[in-house]
Amino acid sequence: MCGIVGYVGGQSALDVVLAGLRRLEYRGYDSAGVAVLADGGLAAAKKAGKLANLEKELSDRPLPSGPTAVGHTRWATHGGPTDANAHPHLDNPGRVAVVHNGIIENFAALRAELADRGHTLESETDTEVVAHLLSEVFSSCGDLAESMRQVCRRLEGAFTLVAVHADEPDVVVGARRNSPLVVGVGDGENFLASDVAAFIAHTREAIELGQDQVVELRRDGVQVTDFDGASATDVRAYHVDWDASAAEKGGYDYFMLKEIAEQPRAVADTLLGRIDAAGSLTLDEVRIPDSVLREVDKVVVVACGTAYHAGLIAKYAIEHWTRIPCETELASEFRYRDPILDQRTLVIAISQSGETMDTLMALRHAREQGAKVLAVCNTNGSTIPRESDAVLYTHAGPEVAVASTKAFLTQLVACYLVALYLGQVRGTKWGDEVGSVVRELSEIAREVEEVLETMEPVRELARSLADKNTVLFLGRHVGYPVALEGALKLKELAYMHAEGFAAGELKHGPIALIEQDLPVVVVVPSPRGRSVLHDKIVSNIQEIRARGARTIVIAERGDEAVRPYADHLIEIPRTPVLLQPLVATVPLQVFACELATARGNEVDQPRNLAKSVTVE
Ligand code: F6R
Repeated sequence: MCGIVGYVGGQSALDVVLAGLRRLEYRGYDSAGVAVLADGGLAAAKKAGKLANLEKELSDRPLPSGPTAVGHTRWATHGGPTDANAHPHLDNPGRVAVVHNGIIENFAALRAELADRGHTLESETDTEVVAHLLSEVFSSCGDLAESMRQVCRRLEGAFTLVAVHADEPDVVVGARRNSPLVVGVGDGENFLASDVAAFIAHTREAIELGQDQVVELRRDGVQVTDFDGASATDVRAYHVDWDASAAEKGGYDYFMLKEIAEQPRAVADTLLGRIDAAGSLTLDEVRIPDSVLREVDKVVVVACGTAYHAGLIAKYAIEHWTRIPCETELASEFRYRDPILDQRTLVIAISQSGETMDTLMALRHAREQGAKVLAVCNTNGSTIPRESDAVLYTHAGPEVAVASTKAFLTQLVACYLVALYLGQVRGTKWGDEVGSVVRELSEIAREVEEVLETMEPVRELARSLADKNTVLFLGRHVGYPVALEGALKLKELAYMHAEGFAAGELKHGPIALIEQDLPVVVVVPSPRGRSVLHDKIVSNIQEIRARGARTIVIAERGDEAVRPYADHLIEIPRTPVLLQPLVATVPLQVFACELATARGNEVDQPRNLAKSVTVE
């Protein structure tokens, strides 16, 4: 949410910052802006709308070239998406420029205080107060890093701030509290960004900043302190192990298409080295001692959006394979209902970005109550793993499209691994089922690939439904969260009314929505295993078809019982019951992506959304 880039070095800072912003635009696309230090002064440009608007502005009215610059792509919080509210924000007379991600909660009081001292603010944003405060402090101390520290001590809320001052032309200063900020360490140049994607084309050496830290960047050095000026002791340097091409479209029209196609590899990478030939799990990263895991008497999964749907599926796997009670809860609701947690509770926080504020707040609350927190995360160096007791990384690679796809599948894989590992550590008596699940996991990447190879009819079907207003999704058991995920993908991408229901709930109300030709997608459980569920959903399909629904059925290959009731049949490979979401979700991703394209929507950057939601 909001992309930030800062640069100081020998290249044209503006070019570096703009290239970085292009890679971060997925974080917010309400406006974009840059500021450059050159010729003893500061020059800035900013425009509402996508980065392309700013680029056009810069080609019409070029800025001077200089070695130091900051840039921003915005997801609006305080103040609408206008030119005036776009970042950077400047003081008056325009010597300092600030870009910001997050929310400064006490901005109204600070703004009133500045007004009393004669400042005139031009935007409706909370950020502009920081520019004016920095300017005031700088005029007495003449040091931007020190000014930042003093100002940060006065701010409440969550923020990443990056600032430059015309009187210190070779310095970029950043600060972070509860919002992401990473340093990229180059040779004679240094970078600051909300995400390593912004500087990966220049360096893969990164430094993770801790909470409440200020970083001062010069061409040849990086200095990190806390808000009081003491040298920071907990900065962690790391090497980014994916390269720049991983964050490119690679010939696809959209990142989402590329990311859907990458799922077999992402799933395989997430399994790699974690199950040995004998079917035993090794999760060395899970640094919670086995003795503690053996004592766990409750698991709580917290997450948001798509990650929450992965968590719902995790609940079925954890309870079935470990017999430990498990709840899955929306992170944004969790801590506000005073949940009952203690040292024997294991909280699993699932997050692709590792920065989602709701999930971060939920995990902090859990740790305050003494619970152990295990993060399932895709982003090395992000806040959620850093603040957890342990982390199991998913290896999806960078996910740039705002709608999550490959991260979801890898979150599922990670959750299955955690469930199996918990069972293994606790000596759960499994019988044959788990052996076959473990064997099947090693086949699953190939099965996802198989699904991807048969998607043309799904795309065709999606195009034929482009003028519909509503699509419903039904499922039972693990098919229910899959239905929720299918509906979420369609809402966010196609802007259609889409709802997911537990098929058994239909008769308790939602069946009233069924009318002639209404498309209803039904995720059918395997007829093997829990055949009672299969039979019940076949009845549900007949009930809605009798009322005019057009049924789009996702079912296991060879499921002949369902065929007569499917207006459209999408066949998926046979898998063990609990693993079915890994193959059943893929057609729904393709369906939503194609419908969005057919409706002329922006696939990678759906309206009003942003990736990595760093506000509550
Ligand atoms: C939907 C989507 C979001 C995210 C949610 C959590 O396609 O991407 O619902 O799943 O915002 O994000 P992370 O996983 O980064 O915590």
